[in-house]
Amino acid sequence: MSNYQPLSIEFKNGSGIWLNDTQGQRYLDALSGIAVCGLGHAHPAVQAAIADQAANLIHTSNLYRIPLQEKLAGKLVQHSGMEKVFFGNSGAEANEAAIKLARLYANNKGISNPVIVVMEKSFHGRTMATLSATGNAKVQKGFDPLVEGFKHIPYNNIDALNELANEDLNIVAVMVEPILGEGGVVIPDPGYLKAIRAFCDKHKCLMMVDEVQTGMCRTGKWFAFQHEDVMPDVMTLAKALGNGVPIGACLAKGEAAELFQPGSHGSTFGGNPLASRAALAVIEVLEAQYLEQRAAELGNRLLDSFKEALSAVKGVSDIRGKGLMLGIELEKECPDLVGLALNEHLLINVTSGNVIRLLPPLIMNDAEADQLVSTLSKILKKYLK
Ligand SMILES: Cc1ncc(COP(=O)(O)O)c(C=O)c1O
Repeated sequence: MSNYQPLSIEFKNGSGIWLNDTQGQRYLDALSGIAVCGLGHAHPAVQAAIADQAANLIHTSNLYRIPLQEKLAGKLVQHSGMEKVFFGNSGAEANEAAIKLARLYANNKGISNPVIVVMEKSFHGRTMATLSATGNAKVQKGFDPLVEGFKHIPYNNIDALNELANEDLNIVAVMVEPILGEGGVVIPDPGYLKAIRAFCDKHKCLMMVDEVQTGMCRTGKWFAFQHEDVMPDVMTLAKALGNGVPIGACLAKGEAAELFQPGSHGSTFGGNPLASRAALAVIEVLEAQYLEQRAAELGNRLLDSFKEALSAVKGVSDIRGKGLMLGIELEKECPDLVGLALNEHLLINVTSGNVIRLLPPLIMNDAEADQLVSTLSKILKKYLK
């Protein structure tokens, strides 16, 4: 179907942060398949784990115990402080599970018209419930009637949240990205998540963080909520969890972790042996190489270098980032930059119209980071001349 508009380039293989096209040309991948290949391409440990698992057992269904899935859940719980995990196959599915938890939470309290507070400019997925939660009219256009029960408020605005308490709403959850990804790499003020936690405690509703893009060490912590001293009730993951093997997860703690009972939710593929094994391999590499620390270090290096190279360039309005999630905001819309960068053998993304989004692999070395800065800075200076 015509829902994508792919660039005509075709990649044949990759290694680390590099991709090779069918013409034998090499590209620096500063996007990682949209925050998926955190360990880069063809990572030896992930590749070996997938091959070995495929040779033994790919799928059995959740009708039977899956020890690899249990082990993976244990690892995720250990790193996040959450308690239980449901596995699906994508970010949208992980968020669907979270939304269903909020609905069950309401149902158990006898609330028939529950409201989940969500943010303007957020992105949570393309299924009917997750696109209804998403704060972007373009994503919703044409799909009415939307799923009801979502209330959108501005991101990074605690007053707007607190004001909702004066309205006659049965708020059962607040769902938030710790950093807006698709919405333009927007980093909220320090204390934002803590204030949401306080609101949720006061009004007895669930704090649900969407870490689909920010999770798995990308921002310099295992999960971005850990930059603040808070614990959510629900957290969702996908993208980098399997380094390209589709897997999503919805984690919960406390009351939220007990809501799903046999029959309340499910997935044929979710957490199957192949996907679980791949994700376990990813986690083992992240652990062994302390890649959350490396992401923080590399992020600072990139941020400092980009600021040095571009701060004084007319037309650049902001340079920001946390770990390896970086945004360079321009004064004007710049979708054509993706093609211009491709001509220079660099893969980048432009989101929210005027924000260059960089999500490079966490295994990048210093020289590669410096090459990213010099190549992109050169392109940008020429572009903005
Ligand atoms: C924060 C966030 N949530 C959810 C999603 C949806 O994930 P998926 O495309 O795997 O369904 C995305 C995808 O970009 C995302 O960035």
